[in-house]
Amino acid sequence: MSTSVDLVHRFGVTRIWLGSRALTDAKAEVEEWAAGRRVFVVSSAPVRALQRDSIADLLGTASDVVELEIPDGEDAKSLTSVEGLTREMLAAGGKRDSRVVTLGGGTVGDVGGFAAGCFLRGIEYAQFPTTLLAQVDAAIGGKTGVNLPEAKNSVGLFHQPRWVVSDSRFLRTLPADEIRQALFEVVKAAILGDPVLFEFLEEGLEDLLASQPDALDIAIARAVAVKVDVVSSDEREGDRRRLLNLGHTLGHALETVVGHGRLRHGDAVGHGMLFAITLAQSRGLAPAEAGRMRDLIDRLAPLQLSDLDPAALATAIGRDKKARESGVSWVLPLEIGRAEVAELSQATVTEELASFIGGCVQ
Ligand SMILES: NC(=O)c1ccc[n+]([C@@H]2O[C@H](COP(=O)([O-])OP(=O)(O)OC[C@H]3O[C@@H](n4cnc5c(N)ncnc54)[C@H](O)[C@@H]3O)[C@@H](O)[C@H]2O)c1
Ligand SMILES: [Zn+2]
Repeated sequence: MSTSVDLVHRFGVTRIWLGSRALTDAKAEVEEWAAGRRVFVVSSAPVRALQRDSIADLLGTASDVVELEIPDGEDAKSLTSVEGLTREMLAAGGKRDSRVVTLGGGTVGDVGGFAAGCFLRGIEYAQFPTTLLAQVDAAIGGKTGVNLPEAKNSVGLFHQPRWVVSDSRFLRTLPADEIRQALFEVVKAAILGDPVLFEFLEEGLEDLLASQPDALDIAIARAVAVKVDVVSSDEREGDRRRLLNLGHTLGHALETVVGHGRLRHGDAVGHGMLFAITLAQSRGLAPAEAGRMRDLIDRLAPLQLSDLDPAALATAIGRDKKARESGVSWVLPLEIGRAEVAELSQATVTEELASFIGGCVQ
């Protein structure tokens, strides 16, 4: 089964194909888009080794495919990678009507999308996300970019893909911890915007953790729908996109203070959501709803933290990329399926953070 959903944005439309037949059902449209053109397929060595057949099959023989490789994982997200890619594209005869296809996780999508957005001031591209995180989050919404040594994702641009082909068969080879990490973002989507997804997660979390294909297809489709709704309404209402930051204000600070090598993003967002629930509860979130949210997050077993320094965390929160001159905003759940952005004073947060840390460290 596959389904498609159109994300309408100011630059046009992104068609997102989902499910276990996405590659097959997207083939005719993507092939036509690529026909007669040079197509740069950006990937990393491990992903290419796993997915070689599917991509060759998808683009068919109608286009002139040039395969490009970047390092695996977060190391790829550098300006050096972008320089390498764009120079190779130029050397291989890339033109304004050439295409880029990214095949891989969020790192490949972010770098390949950024290279496509800069090359000759921007050429069209398609994302083929192969991780759960990329399918539910990174490939949707048009954010692309790379890291500087000083800060993650600090250089980038919005460049919306023409297609996103999220075939869930890609996920069969994904290690269990990659699934668990991405499920924190699925829980985030449920808390933000989908009570039905939340109940589905309560019922079927163990199936999802075990990569059960039908359960994954349902969770992906619903989580994508939440992100599509938020991103497309942001075009009209402005700022609604900030809701996607639920759990990320403290989450990013934890990653900085504990170290990206020691604390993975999903685990950090898990703790960040638990803190957001605590903040929300002292502002009226019903205890029963807060309890259900906490239980679900606890079942994903976020990595236990120890020896956290509240002062270092408070500093890192103030430096968050999304902080504005006016202060740091927090996304707080109002109920399961609804959240709001609130400006909280630094003093309030510091006080609540101290007791939260006291409760979560061992
Ligand atoms: N652009 C956005 O809006 C956005 C949103 C969220 C996250 N991100 C970015 O996404 C990145 C994280 O993405 P990620 O979690 O996909 O990490 P990743 O791209 O580093 O992939 C994780 C690992 O999985 C491997 N892999 C990929 N597909 C596989 C498959 N099908 N089977 C087996 N192994 C596979 C990769 O080789 C890699 O080692 C971060 O850099 C983050 O900043 C971007
Ligand atoms: Zn995240």
